[in-house]
Amino acid sequence: MRVRVLGSAAGGGFPQWNCGCDNCRLVRASTAEARPRTQESVAVSADGVSWFLINVSPEVRAQIESFGALWPREPRHSPLGGLLLTNGDLDHCLGLLSLRESHPLTIYATAAVRDGFTTGNVLYRTLQRFPGQTSWRPLALGEEQPLGDSGLHVTAIPTPGKLPLHLEGLRAPSREDNVGLMIRDGGSGKTLAYFSGVAGPSPDVERALAAADVVFFDGTFWSSEELITAGLGTRRAEEMAHWPVGGAEGSLAYLSRFPARKLYIHVNNTNPMLRESGAERRRLAAAGVEVAADGQELEL
Ligand code: MLT
Ligand code: MN
Ligand code: ZN
Repeated sequence: MRVRVLGSAAGGGFPQWNCGCDNCRLVRASTAEARPRTQESVAVSADGVSWFLINVSPEVRAQIESFGALWPREPRHSPLGGLLLTNGDLDHCLGLLSLRESHPLTIYATAAVRDGFTTGNVLYRTLQRFPGQTSWRPLALGEEQPLGDSGLHVTAIPTPGKLPLHLEGLRAPSREDNVGLMIRDGGSGKTLAYFSGVAGPSPDVERALAAADVVFFDGTFWSSEELITAGLGTRRAEEMAHWPVGGAEGSLAYLSRFPARKLYIHVNNTNPMLRESGAERRRLAAAGVEVAADGQELEL
């Protein structure tokens, strides 16, 4: 399986347009100490020909252009065999509306995530202009299914999380609102565990990580009070359904127990581990955990 990181930042990207925090100032200064990052999305393929996007960020057009394997090979064509959504957050699905140029789209998502995007959404009509423009493939929790005839298979794992902001208060939360994805290559037998939004530990998450060869994990915040301390927000990481990386109860200590190669993704611009030679990055290195970077490729 080939994996290409198209975007590794949380919603807002790095730098974020309205942010002048220390990290965002640093990355705008173009020092080697911080690298720009677009919003989270990863491309996977078994054969290097047909590709699937995990999450479709608002920056999808530039992300496709950043990677030649995703370019058309005919006057009207796309190597994208499908699009997979881990939840309904706008940084994960707003890009669907940018793929509206009359091309058939196959979208894998739980019924809850599909309904959250389609119900009452007049903008969705732009993806419904002809029969078959959009085909939804429901992800049933815990049930593996093939991704077409690509050789890849996907299983959605229920994961502690929350409703997208725009649906809070409009509907009851469900176990289908937020999932991790297990992507298995039927040829090599290797498995990618993709968990970019995790509010905390659970038996399902634990089983999935234990079975994986490579893990992408929620690296949004280093600490609970990160936004509050910086004067940039009022909510703790946990209130935003993101498990902090640092501290005795943090995800870094938790991840250390799994033998897989591990990379943090969906990293918020305020997170001190974005500094390439900072103390937090050294803590990651000591624990054998990486921070995913835009343009990075993995083979498993
Ligand atoms: C998140 O990761 O918590 C969401 O993307 C936040 C948001 O929707 O702005
Ligand atoms: Mn997000
Ligand atoms: Zn910032």
